[in-house]
Amino acid sequence: MSKNRDDINPYISIIVPTYNESQNINELLNRVHDALHNIEHEIIVVDDDSPDMTWKIVEDRIKIDSKVRIIRRKNDRGLSRAVVAGFNAAKGNLLGVIDADLQHDERILPEMIKKTDTASIVIGSRYVKGGGVGDWQFSRRIKSWLATKIAALILNIAVNDPMAGFFVINKETYQKIRNKINPQGFKILLEILYHSNAEAVEVPYHFRSRSSGESKLTSKVVWEYLKQVISLRRNKPIPERFVKYCIVGSSGVIIDMIIFSFTFELLLLPASFSGVISSQIAIFSNFIFNDLWTFSGRQGEKLISRFIKYEVTCFVGVIIKFCLILFMVNILNINPYSANGFGIVMVIFTNYIFSKLWVWKNHQPMP
Ligand code: GDD
Ligand code: MN
Repeated sequence: MSKNRDDINPYISIIVPTYNESQNINELLNRVHDALHNIEHEIIVVDDDSPDMTWKIVEDRIKIDSKVRIIRRKNDRGLSRAVVAGFNAAKGNLLGVIDADLQHDERILPEMIKKTDTASIVIGSRYVKGGGVGDWQFSRRIKSWLATKIAALILNIAVNDPMAGFFVINKETYQKIRNKINPQGFKILLEILYHSNAEAVEVPYHFRSRSSGESKLTSKVVWEYLKQVISLRRNKPIPERFVKYCIVGSSGVIIDMIIFSFTFELLLLPASFSGVISSQIAIFSNFIFNDLWTFSGRQGEKLISRFIKYEVTCFVGVIIKFCLILFMVNILNINPYSANGFGIVMVIFTNYIFSKLWVWKNHQPMP
């Protein structure tokens, strides 16, 4: 009889990355054992030589608990690299990851495992119906939401919680892509989703708050995340149209500067007024180049309505940037220069999307 996937009993290796989790690890191990009491499993704790000796607690436990293993990584720190080390040592046909700090609800593990019958990646998700983030601070919610939207927009990842550190993946799927994974930073799931292109399903749960120890997700992690998204995106060719759009945009900056110096220095107009004239002329020249070059062949509507729509697009861009900066500086306490930089990048994207989908939208030729 041929063996298909349903005939293989699941054997899951649960990877638990730890850094200073001495107060949580024993409780977590108990809970995972309870949740998986009738499923064959092993638990691999991957500890990066925690100063609080989390590894020692686990080593003591291993003497009486044969289902637990430990990997001690002495000269390296990094969540994703720890997870990869665990995956590579795992014996199971399924690989799972769960945080040690009891924030993930281990009771949904059986359901997650069951769902691997039909999907190669199953994510414990805070953002699907039935899930939640509990008493998260507002700013943390927003950061997480923004990060999710960026992944959707730039990487085309449609999962609701691509940032999760709680998921189960089929070993075959992992093995196919393991050489492509860049184990930098926090977001190993993002790498897996992006490279595997596999279908993922999400199981809701409520993210609990941490009772002991502290989070390692600092603001530096936010930048690492953005770098990760960009480096993943670089693997795919950037659409030619977008490159053209950026070239036109840069020419606009130069034109703006030239006109500004002309009106300000020679015509002796006030700087504020000069700034308005120079951007208006730059918008005008951007419009012409985009119309003739970037989006040539898409001039479906009347010239004047394309132009008005483009003006509106630029205006909306300014407002978006204004709100973003206001929000990032005052609510998220992000440094103003970083906020402005982030605003510029976001507005390039939103303007491009408006231009592509609205100003120069694709008019299907009549049949
Ligand atoms: N081995 C190792 N090395 N483990 C680490 C490291 C490291 O450098 N940094 C963190 N960990 C472990 C922690 O001990 C914990 O078990 C788990 O990884 C998650 O770290 P937290 O510091 O608790 O992260 P968090 O709660 O702020 O972040 C959670 O939410 C993120 C999304 O918002 C986690 O679930 C993340 O995985 C998730 O991406
Ligand atoms: Mn945590």
